[in-house]
Amino acid sequence: MLRCFYREKKVTREGSAIDNISMAKIELTQSEVEAAAKVLRSGKLRQGEECVAFENEFAQTVGRRHALTCSSGSAALHLAYSSLVEPGDEVLVPSFTFIATASMVVHAGGRPVFCDIDPETYLIDLDDARARITERTKALAPVHIFGNPFDMEGAQELADSHGLKLICDAAQAHGAQYQGLDVGHWGDIACYSFYPSKNMFVGEGGMVCCDDDDLADDLRLLRSHGIAGKYLHTRLGFNYRMTDVEAAIGRKQLRRLDEMLARRRRNADIYNKALNDISGLTPQKTTSNSSHAWHQYCVMVEAQNYGMDRDSLAAYFGQRGVATAVHYPRGLHQQPIFMDLYGEQRLPVTERLAKNILALPVHHGLDDAQVERVAALLAEAGN
Ligand SMILES: Cc1ncc(COP(=O)(O)O)c(C=O)c1O
Repeated sequence: MLRCFYREKKVTREGSAIDNISMAKIELTQSEVEAAAKVLRSGKLRQGEECVAFENEFAQTVGRRHALTCSSGSAALHLAYSSLVEPGDEVLVPSFTFIATASMVVHAGGRPVFCDIDPETYLIDLDDARARITERTKALAPVHIFGNPFDMEGAQELADSHGLKLICDAAQAHGAQYQGLDVGHWGDIACYSFYPSKNMFVGEGGMVCCDDDDLADDLRLLRSHGIAGKYLHTRLGFNYRMTDVEAAIGRKQLRRLDEMLARRRRNADIYNKALNDISGLTPQKTTSNSSHAWHQYCVMVEAQNYGMDRDSLAAYFGQRGVATAVHYPRGLHQQPIFMDLYGEQRLPVTERLAKNILALPVHHGLDDAQVERVAALLAEAGN
């Protein structure tokens, strides 16, 4: 294994050494390093055969006719919105997500319309989304947040009844399933990120998945400056190509995705069981009929019942060598850039979550003992 992270020892007050626990383990196997090195030695440093093979393997894994590699998850979203959204169109997005879900709508000429979320699943609230539909609404963009699959049947019904496109942000949801099918299978388009902290990673990279042949052709054109022939451009596009170096790593990662997911799921099970006996801490509820990919394991901290608020709990863990994180400390509607663009808005569930949510380490590099240690600290801290 090549380790791209480090694991420090922390010394307790009593003088004994304990392992620090990180929020991610970004590590390439020897075979992933060799696959990348082989491409580097070949001198074929651009999008080529490895990208095509990665696309075919990914498309087969998620059950799509087309999967297109690109340079990041943000690029994947930008391609999707650029293909399906016209200037002035509105796109319904959850406020509780990473900025790219919404900022890429703006870059494509559209306007993101921020919707509130369900307090238990943290996913976009379809009733709230429905209430925000206007004659300019073009698409619904659900995010499978933290790897929790969206209710795609509900989303499809809403989209069909209003003639909307369904653009799914699966950046955090590699391997998540809804009704037994990979989340990448659902919607008009599904977009992935392979950023290093993700469930599978290549460095910087993304994937756009769809079934429609014309749409795939358009996405391909947009990905590479609208090139239809040598110095012949039929569309204004971008350079959002992936290189074969990342694709070679991605092909290997795809083969161990199930193994990495199994470990994440086991870690989440340990936390779920421990939380049954702790009042005031509630984990994210998994959508029914689905399989969560646990990109993040988040708990809602209710200070009055638990005996400690979110920030104090994070500090408690920090002092004991356990990393935690806050995803996200504010909704997108509370981001200065969007407040400048669209004015102030109140989304109570998003705002409550942003104040009280804490992500615990759940990554594939943890063992039972480490997760149990974190769970024991959770039980200890609030009392
Ligand atoms: C929900 C979501 N969408 C989009 C992105 C953008 O992906 P990238 O960082 O690869 O551009 C991310 C990455 O953090 C994400 O979490």
